[in-house]
Amino acid sequence: MKESKVYNQDCLKTMSAIGKEKADLILTDPPYNLGLFMKNRDTNINAMRSNHFAGSGWDDLDFSEWKDYMLKFFLSANKVLKKKGNLIIFMSLIKVETVIELANKANLYYKTTGIWHKTNPMPRNMNLHFVNSTEAWLHFTSKSKTGIFNNNNKILHDFFETSNIKNSEKKEGTHPTQKPLEILSFFIKTLSNKNGLVIDPFMGSGSTGVAALNNYRKFIGGEIKKKYFNISKKRLKKISAQLNLF
Ligand SMILES: C[S@@+](CC[C@H](N)C(=O)[O-])C[C@H]1O[C@@H](n2cnc3c(N)ncnc32)[C@H](O)[C@@H]1O
Repeated sequence: MKESKVYNQDCLKTMSAIGKEKADLILTDPPYNLGLFMKNRDTNINAMRSNHFAGSGWDDLDFSEWKDYMLKFFLSANKVLKKKGNLIIFMSLIKVETVIELANKANLYYKTTGIWHKTNPMPRNMNLHFVNSTEAWLHFTSKSKTGIFNNNNKILHDFFETSNIKNSEKKEGTHPTQKPLEILSFFIKTLSNKNGLVIDPFMGSGSTGVAALNNYRKFIGGEIKKKYFNISKKRLKKISAQLNLF
């Protein structure tokens, strides 16, 4: 929509460009701090595939640097969110406790930890261990214990299941950790209203922005890597033209 914007810059710069109490929903998927963890376990990333996140270079902070950075992110998130604004952050299950501790330090109100289950994950090393098919998502609210919650009187479980990302979406985003539009749309419709402002300062290939515009919300996003910033811009321009937003 007209007021939507994307920046090719560090997350914290994007957050400070937005200003105080502007956002209805922050929906984001930051680095999970798994890059070094996987390298230290001698995971043969090249043998997995060339486009794997652990070899991408954007998830290589050590744990304490990552924690310091994420605390700054949460502090800025609490400034940028309106009173009763919502925050959803995707995360690996092994980092859930750390994320809750950091967000609490930033005075965000913890609501829920949920699971995203992928019904058809890559069956990597399926004869050696349990195949990874889950990620966590955490829900917080800002300056209030409740926020917008458009459940239309239905019981919403803390569990969301999708198949892996559709080929048509993957072709447009080509990001190693690209999220399906289905789950992003679900959070956007439930936790914000039409014309509300959705933010994703770690937008990768811009999936949150595509889902926000599809659902008639405004979007501000940021991405540090030029390659993914350009992909996001292209996807968002295409969807804006399709929806006749400009
Ligand atoms: C998990 S991916 C997001 C993928 C996205 N959900 C999608 O569907 O394409 C995280 C993204 O954050 C970016 N990133 C890493 N550190 C950043 C920082 N300090 N500021 C902004 N973006 C950053 C990475 O380049 C990567 O594209």
